[in-house]
Amino acid sequence: MVANDYFPPWFSVAPMMDWTDNHYRTLARLISKHAWLYTEMLAAETIVYQKGNLDRFLAFSPDQHPIVLQIGGSNLENLAKATELADAYGYDEINFNCGCPSPRVAGRGCFGARLMLEPKFVAEAVSVIAANTNVPVSVKCRIGVDDHDSYNELCDFIYKVSSLSPTRHFIIHSRKALLNGLSPAENRSIPPLKYEYFYGLLRDFPDLTFTINGGINNIDETNAALKTGAHGVMVGRAAYHNPWHILGNVDTAIYGVPSIGLTRRQVLEKYQVYGDSVLLKYGFRPTVRDIVKPLLGFFHSEPGNGLWKRKADSAFQTCTTVKSFLEETMVAIPDSVLDSSFAKSPPGREDLFANIDSLLPPPYRTRDEGSVYIH
Ligand SMILES: Cc1cc2nc3c(=O)[nH]c(=O)nc-3n(C[C@H](O)[C@H](O)[C@H](O)COP(=O)(O)O)c2cc1C
Repeated sequence: MVANDYFPPWFSVAPMMDWTDNHYRTLARLISKHAWLYTEMLAAETIVYQKGNLDRFLAFSPDQHPIVLQIGGSNLENLAKATELADAYGYDEINFNCGCPSPRVAGRGCFGARLMLEPKFVAEAVSVIAANTNVPVSVKCRIGVDDHDSYNELCDFIYKVSSLSPTRHFIIHSRKALLNGLSPAENRSIPPLKYEYFYGLLRDFPDLTFTINGGINNIDETNAALKTGAHGVMVGRAAYHNPWHILGNVDTAIYGVPSIGLTRRQVLEKYQVYGDSVLLKYGFRPTVRDIVKPLLGFFHSEPGNGLWKRKADSAFQTCTTVKSFLEETMVAIPDSVLDSSFAKSPPGREDLFANIDSLLPPPYRTRDEGSVYIH
């Protein structure tokens, strides 16, 4: 695997637990050749304790390159071992999670978003990860946690992590996390987005690479972010809920190369072959429902979508293969939808970042030296 064979991560699909599994990534790759795909977060402990069962968690088909493994954890020894084990699978980058607010994660010692309060530990953790792999390492974080939400505190985090570890790429989910009182889903919508912090980082850390994330919902907004200087754009929920229209435009409208050119029917045929080949591979899983789940947004806003979903509900009860599931449900979708390879890009806010310069926070001054940060 040579990372330079791949187009830059101008567009990536966010890591999403229970969503960006092997099935979703297989579907995504049938639609876009160049989008970077992140795995769901995998805890270092899972990798270490499932040593005899690693393929289930770490294996992916070579088509999924470029692909990034996201690891979470707070135990340096486990992070080291997990990276060593994962490295054999040939991921293109390893990302360390400092953004997850879930109590399942944040409550277990210092893990996920809570780690933003421990930049020196994060630097150590990423250093340990980097020492066990030859691929680049990156950090995904929020813009702050609870009351630690000033721009200067964010800069202190970036400064410490980047100067004490090999991290050169940060993915910034541009809202803070509230560790108590909000559910994970609320933590992805209630704290306001502050894109001005992201653009402040671009200005104040010119030697680092930053990917913007949070609330970017389509290709127009992705291109607006790239035009305004973002090195990369990461899209989560929109790419999951509407994969055809979002991912179907990435190769042409972002990378400027021809799209894969498959019709939805052809994508489904290939996906069905994949699905039936992995069905029940690990005992009772994956089920037909597990494999069909990423398809639930495939006909987003198309005629027949509602009827298709109703048929899907009853087909889940009876169908024992993906093939029979599709045969039973596809009658709901008109041929014109199935046989077109054209993916209409949903309209977006091209002016999303138009006033960003006027909102930028004052330049970062390091707490220690009181001088402008120069890397
Ligand atoms: C169901 C779900 C699961 C998520 N799991 C993770 C995860 O495992 N690791 C992570 O860093 N972020 C996770 N996130 C956050 C996303 O990566 C992303 O930062 C967030 O959804 C904001 O981007 P968006 O507005 O484009 O969706 C998850 C989000 C969702 C919706």
